[in-house]
Amino acid sequence: MTADTNAHRIQSVAVLTSGGDAPGMNAAVRAVVRAGVSQGLQVFGVQHGFTGLIEGQFRPLGRRDVGGIVQLGGTMLGTTRCVELKTAAGQGQALLQLQRHGIQGLVVIGGNGSQSGAHALSLAGLPVVGVASTIDNDLVGADVTIGATTAVDVALEAIDRLRVTAASHGRAFLVEVMGRNCGYLALMAAIAGGAEGVLIPEVDLDPEGIASELRQGGQRGKSHAIVVVAEGARYNAEALAQYFKVHEERLGFDLRVSRLGHVQRGGSPGAFDRIMATQLGAAAITQLAHGNHGVLVGVVNGQVVNTTLADVAHRTRPASRHWIDLARMLAE
Ligand code: F6P
Repeated sequence: MTADTNAHRIQSVAVLTSGGDAPGMNAAVRAVVRAGVSQGLQVFGVQHGFTGLIEGQFRPLGRRDVGGIVQLGGTMLGTTRCVELKTAAGQGQALLQLQRHGIQGLVVIGGNGSQSGAHALSLAGLPVVGVASTIDNDLVGADVTIGATTAVDVALEAIDRLRVTAASHGRAFLVEVMGRNCGYLALMAAIAGGAEGVLIPEVDLDPEGIASELRQGGQRGKSHAIVVVAEGARYNAEALAQYFKVHEERLGFDLRVSRLGHVQRGGSPGAFDRIMATQLGAAAITQLAHGNHGVLVGVVNGQVVNTTLADVAHRTRPASRHWIDLARMLAE
């Protein structure tokens, strides 16, 4: 973390959202703008994430410009997955655009790819603060990231509905949820949805293992089953369904598959996400205003803490063993 003794010189900051949109990003943008204005800073919104930064798509934002968005999913600023920022040329162009517009600090709201970009700009000398935001909840430096709890709620609503039809027909359902590298979403949805099985990237379970769990459940009197599958598991829903089809006679299951996909990202943020996003957006401005940068702000053990971007960049945080064990014990 860098403590800038000439912090008073920062008079303007920009804010951008990057990577997959997450419910609560708008609440974070709103808090950055309003906290920035309260601190006497000029605040600019960057359209379309790092792509817009490289292209110089800035617009001044005042308190009224961020009215009426706290309850909205998505991001009013737009977002991209920007490959160009990974290059030295892209980073140089981003810095040049900020300089041209007289912007001295940057808040980056996003997940690990975005925070890796933030780290690169920070190494190049820009005061940057990251805000932990991704539905995957796989960031180092945050116990829970903006959007994750709302995404779990969205998945849960679908799972509850699927259980109704699964019970009526006595069927097994595979429900695929998002989560490229981390099983958090799948585990939480499985625990809260009372799933009979869960497959995540962190635990290597094959189709025979799932079949045997379903069979044992049937022997214990279960009439139907829900198996939650993370998209990043070695066998995702498609691979599992294919396996079960090929071995249908032997395994003997009437399986149905539902992929929830991007539906999970589109929810209106719940209270928890709105409040945490507000807290983190305001904290990002406090850090920049005090000359602390090169850090990510995230909630750890109920407190807003700073973690250096060097510790966050290019890393993912797996789901905790505690949740993995609890989900498996409950599914039996
Ligand atoms: O933002 C995280 C995430 O939703 C992952 O869960 C998912 O694998 C990925 O984004 C999908 O990315 P895209 O929206 O670019 O298809």
